[in-house]
Amino acid sequence: MVIKKIVKDKIALLTINREEALNAMNPLILNELKDIFKNCIEDESIRAIILTGSGKKAFIAGADIKIMEKLDSKSAHDFGLLGQELTNIIENSTKPIIALVNGFALGGGCEISLACHIRLASDNAMFGQPEVKLGLIPGWGGTQRLPRIVGKGLATELIITGKIIDSNEAYRIGLVNKILKGNNLIEESFEFAKLILQNGPKAISKSLSCINNSSNSSLNDGLENELETFSKLFGSQETNEGLKAFVEKRLPKF
Ligand code: CAA
Repeated sequence: MVIKKIVKDKIALLTINREEALNAMNPLILNELKDIFKNCIEDESIRAIILTGSGKKAFIAGADIKIMEKLDSKSAHDFGLLGQELTNIIENSTKPIIALVNGFALGGGCEISLACHIRLASDNAMFGQPEVKLGLIPGWGGTQRLPRIVGKGLATELIITGKIIDSNEAYRIGLVNKILKGNNLIEESFEFAKLILQNGPKAISKSLSCINNSSNSSLNDGLENELETFSKLFGSQETNEGLKAFVEKRLPKF
């Protein structure tokens, strides 16, 4: 197993252990990550997931270039599909998934972080889509998710220059939610996750689903979906408790 999983305070921490290759992704790791994410999403004792890379140098330095060198068009399609399946599982998760980017997040590594709902970065984090430097384009969703997060102009610039940006620049353009300044990145990311876990789990999952739906629908369809989802929550145990707790001036018990 290349992925290490630790569960604490209802938060699963997944660490990719391939430090010698800067956590570059091969089919074995992609499949392992797919399975582990599916299990965490189904596991009722887990409410949030944090994904990180082992070592201080990289989150994920991309798809494994040594493997890609040997691919033909058909096997590249299968490899690309595997990466897209993984990123779709992450993005469509009903539980929040946080990327803890502790070093290089390049190519497929940046794309995996883009599929996560929140990106936290260390001071030394570096982001980029350098595929053009290899005569390639992003294949795990970069051309689709990057423009949706930072806007078309900046995404185009990043993808066609292949330039690598630091965490301050990534924060400035909205690619990163927060830069973690302390000495214990894991602890800080758990504190961040706990802020989310104070809230209603169903409300979190419905929010994620409506936000995801906004990328695939017109404004009117998205608003209709939001209204439908909002109204259906009324009468549920969680919503009753959340509203009642406010009125009774106490914290809700979710
Ligand atoms: N694939 C396979 N091996 C990789 C790798 C990758 N993406 N990135 C790093 N490694 C390996 C290196 O080959 C090296 O292993 P060896 O010692 O066995 O040769 C080890 O990790 C350490 O890397 P470096 O010696 O290169 O470390 P560095 O500090 O000098 O440079 C780096 C770090 C700038 C991140 C550099 O490793 C690099 O440029 N890596 C490739 C980044 C990249 O282009 N990623 C995009 C891949 S394409 C893609 O992901 C397509 C897609 O959309 C799905």
